[in-house]
Parts: sequence; structure tokens; C-alpha cells
Amino acid sequence: MSHPTELSLTDHEPETETFLRDVLRGLRLTPKELPCKYFYDEAGSALFDRICALPEYYPTRTELSIMERHAPEIAETLGEDVLLVEYGSGSSAKTRVLLDHLIKPAGYVPVDISREHLLASTEALKLRHPEIEMLPVCADFTEPFEVPTPSRADRHRVLYFPGSTLGNFTRGRAITLLSQMAEACAPDGSCLIGIDRVKDVDVLVAAYDDAAGVTAAFNKNLLVRINQELGGDLDLDAFRHEARWNVEEARIEMYLVSTRRQTARIGGEEIAFEAGEDICTEHSHKYTPEGFAEMARAAGLEVTRSWTDPADWFSVQMLRIA
Ligand code: AVJ
Repeated sequence: MSHPTELSLTDHEPETETFLRDVLRGLRLTPKELPCKYFYDEAGSALFDRICALPEYYPTRTELSIMERHAPEIAETLGEDVLLVEYGSGSSAKTRVLLDHLIKPAGYVPVDISREHLLASTEALKLRHPEIEMLPVCADFTEPFEVPTPSRADRHRVLYFPGSTLGNFTRGRAITLLSQMAEACAPDGSCLIGIDRVKDVDVLVAAYDDAAGVTAAFNKNLLVRINQELGGDLDLDAFRHEARWNVEEARIEMYLVSTRRQTARIGGEEIAFEAGEDICTEHSHKYTPEGFAEMARAAGLEVTRSWTDPADWFSVQMLRIA
């Protein structure tokens, strides 16, 4: 697809072979799993934007309200000539608020796995902030990639990781990712991370199993992609969406459950499913401030400030190298 763009895109979109390898690896495991990063093709990113507007899905609007209320103070704390690097930028709604307040930023580097969505969001931000240099990178941010250099030298790097996307990673992998972020903002930058908080289980489950079925469609989009891109023959009607709260791990787990015994072909391989067998498609960890601070410390970071909403449902944490 072509874009009437002057944006210089750095493109490391994952290849089809990588997608196939990850899918087959996950579906041969017991229990079965699929990496949640593959939710986000063009259709999946659009479904995620619809999730963000659902009445049950409180995180986006809560985080946005925190940003709207505290962006001037956050921008002040980050300082001048910042290079803002955002992991999993998506539609960049919260970033818009931040960019509105940053003082003479040296540039903005949105990093996202979904190329078309990345370009469209960056174009929209560019219209609002033509004075800010924008250097989009299409990449899986869990893999090493180079941060492009802005034409005006930056004084600090700020790694922005909103949306509680960190919650998609199990503790060990989250610490690895936080360590990489610490390294990327060294020596005197900061990280700004949005985290979702542990709360009432009914509120949590409803947020991942909405009445309109948008989250179910988002979850099933993984199967749609496998069929379309990997020549799979999965029967979409023979899987249902489920969201469960895992108390011990403090996380929401999303599953696609096979409603009957069946066999599917994917990339020439046969995959068998028992009736009632699960595919785990996503973990979404929820945090206490203490638990998060402890994880950050394990990554060599220390929480220096944090902002929350009146109900303490979400928080935005600022961190520096300890
Ligand atoms: C984009 C990872 C923050 O875990 O809440 C929303 C993704 N999954 N509904 C989340 C998601 C189902 C979302 N993150």
C-alpha cells in the first residue's frame, strides 16, 4: 500500500515466515498459546481502537484523564529537548496530550508493529505538530532495533510505554524489557510507563469480555490472520472467546476455546484440538504500586514520580536509572 507521506519510515515489520514459525511453535505446546503481538494487523489495530472506546474498557479513558490533568507537570519534569520514543504507539491518543505540552521536543519516535496504523497515526500527529520531527519505526519492540537520530540533537531520551502494555509480559520478560528501556534512555533520560492497577474482579473481567463482543472479535482476529496469511483452515465458529482472572498471578488471561474436537491445517501442518481445549492468547498483568516499583528496581530503575486518577484504577509512573 502506498502513502502520500514525507515521513521517513524505518520498516522492520515481522515477516510471514516469522509469524508462521511463532504460530506453529505456540500451537504445538501443551497448553497451547499464541503471541499477543500478532493481534495487531490493520484490522486488529482498528478493533483495539474500538475496545478503547467501550464502556467496560476503563484503562484508556482513565489513563487519558491522568495525562490531560497532569501533562503540564509531566512535561516540566521531563525537561527541554527531549527525544520521545514510544513503544506500541498505536493511535497515539495519549501521546497527543504529551506532545501538546512537551517543551521544544527534539523529536518523536513512535514504534509499532502495525505499519499502516503507525503511518496514519503519525500523519495525524504531524498535522497537529508540524514543528516536531517524527521518525516512525515499524518494528516488534521486543526485538532489538535502532532508534533513529533526530536532526536536532536531543538532551534526554524519554521512553514512553503507555496503555499498560507492559502487562502483556510475564514478570521475567517485563524485567528484561524494562532493563532494555533503562539502557535506551541512559545516561540521564527517563521512562514514563502507564500501568493498570489490581481492582475488583468483576470490573477487570468485564473490561476483557464486553457485552458488544468487540474483544471477542479482537481475540478471534488472530485466527482470521492465520487463515488469511498462513493459508490456515481454522473454523472460526468452533472457537469462543473467554477472559479469566488469575488471582495468584494477578492477571487477566484471554483464551480461544475450541468448542469441539477438531483438526486444522496451518502452513501444511496438522494441529489437533480437543473439545474444550484452550489457546492462551494474552496475559494482561495488573499491578500494585509496590509490586511495580520492585520489578523496576530489579531492572535498575527507580520510580521518581507517579500520577493516578481519583479512584486509583490506573497510574502513570516516571522512572530513572537507579
Ligand atoms: C494494549 C495490551 C494494554 O492488555 O488491556 C485489550 C490489550 N486486550 N483488550 C490490554 C487488550 C484485550 C491491552 N493492551
